[in-house]
Amino acid sequence: MSASEATDLAEAVIARIGDRADPRFREVMTSLIRHLHAFVHEVDLRPDEWLAAVEFLTATGQACSDRRQEFILLSDTLGVSMAVVGLDQARALRSDAATARRATEATVQGPFYWEGAPDVPLGCDLRAEGVKGEPAYYTGQVTDTAGRPLAGALLDIWSGDGAGVYDMQVQGQGMTLRARLRADAEGHYHFWSIRPSEYPVPTDGPVGVMLKHMGRHAMRPGHIHLKVSADGHVPLTTHLFARGGRYLDSDAVFGVRDSLIVDYERHEPGVAPDGRRLTQPYYTVHYRFRLAPSPAR
Ligand code: BEZ
Ligand code: FE
Repeated sequence: MSASEATDLAEAVIARIGDRADPRFREVMTSLIRHLHAFVHEVDLRPDEWLAAVEFLTATGQACSDRRQEFILLSDTLGVSMAVVGLDQARALRSDAATARRATEATVQGPFYWEGAPDVPLGCDLRAEGVKGEPAYYTGQVTDTAGRPLAGALLDIWSGDGAGVYDMQVQGQGMTLRARLRADAEGHYHFWSIRPSEYPVPTDGPVGVMLKHMGRHAMRPGHIHLKVSADGHVPLTTHLFARGGRYLDSDAVFGVRDSLIVDYERHEPGVAPDGRRLTQPYYTVHYRFRLAPSPAR
């Protein structure tokens, strides 16, 4: 097949999109069809390779459940999720260049967000009895991009345990190390959780096979996830990464941003800043989240 025949075929498919198709859907599908056909032509795709791709995508769908999202993992490991996150932030920057530049950077949500975490009071300890991991006390403030406190901002927090295992990965386990809490009237927040450790993204499915074929490792640097929101502001989905940990420069999902790397300051056992007495070493972490104003309608 010549290049011009390949182009004709792609254009014939595009021409079948009906007049009543949603304009944005038309735009996205037109580009997708062109790129797909160009890709097939460029690599001279063979029937057995095409079938292997179909089987791979079928297996990816079959690996999904209410506790596992293999397609998000595929998108994450191919860097597509971060490309979408980056475009979204660039869009915010264009719409409000003066302030968006100072908003906290976003990163991937990942496959382990679980809607409906319990609402807990400020200062709560997210660690359940027996959860692995060294204690860490998180404090900080939620402000707008001008530094004004956002009273009652909502923080929806989740992480794996100190061994890097998420509750969703353990058969039959309920929510662990997840909570939603509200900042106080000055936007200040504080809570206890653990110091997160590095861990591999799930490799027991088709994405794991893909990574292996690529000769890539599956590790993510230690991090805690947060969604931060406040009325009238662009909601933020981000992480805090532990400075000095491994894989900060080779995250399997390309999610690290320098501005999200924070110090976990180590303390000997004793009385913590909130008066709690610790019998083991603990860490303190401080971070200010800045939310951009919602674009004017
Ligand atoms: C996570 O951080 O939870 C995660 C993100 C992307 C892929 C796999 C895991
Ligand atoms: Fe994670």
